[in-house]
Amino acid sequence: MASERIAVAADHAGVGLKSLVEETLKEMGYPVLNLGTDGPESVDYPDFAGKLAAALKDGSAGRGVLICGTGIGMSIAINRHRHIRAARCNDVTDARLSREHNDANVLVLGARTIGAETAKDCLRAFLATEFEGGRHQRRIDKMS
Ligand code: RB5
Repeated sequence: MASERIAVAADHAGVGLKSLVEETLKEMGYPVLNLGTDGPESVDYPDFAGKLAAALKDGSAGRGVLICGTGIGMSIAINRHRHIRAARCNDVTDARLSREHNDANVLVLGARTIGAETAKDCLRAFLATEFEGGRHQRRIDKMS
């Protein structure tokens, strides 16, 4: 059983993929903090990016997964928070390198642009990959 809680949030375009991500996380043994949205009604992605940023800041979750139609709006919104390093990933290499080089703490997925199996591969790589530190830490320090 993994102990790190993972926060998940989406806008209306990402609800279906969010369910798949939640299910996959639970199968992997991760506690999940679901921050919505959970229905088809149109909502605004910055509101949900803000909820997830707050959950990471107050320690309710260690890392997060954010989903919108393309992943672009969520990426722009969440990266405005100084404690966040969010990576919009389209394949497993993106996800692995976002951890090794960028110590990404939020995985962003585009529900309309990524397939279900690729999304699950990204999630698994994001969770399993350690940050390499070293020269990458120096670069991260320059942003914070
Ligand atoms: C919603 O229609 C869509 O604009 C949103 O999910 C996202 O793709 C924005 O970047």
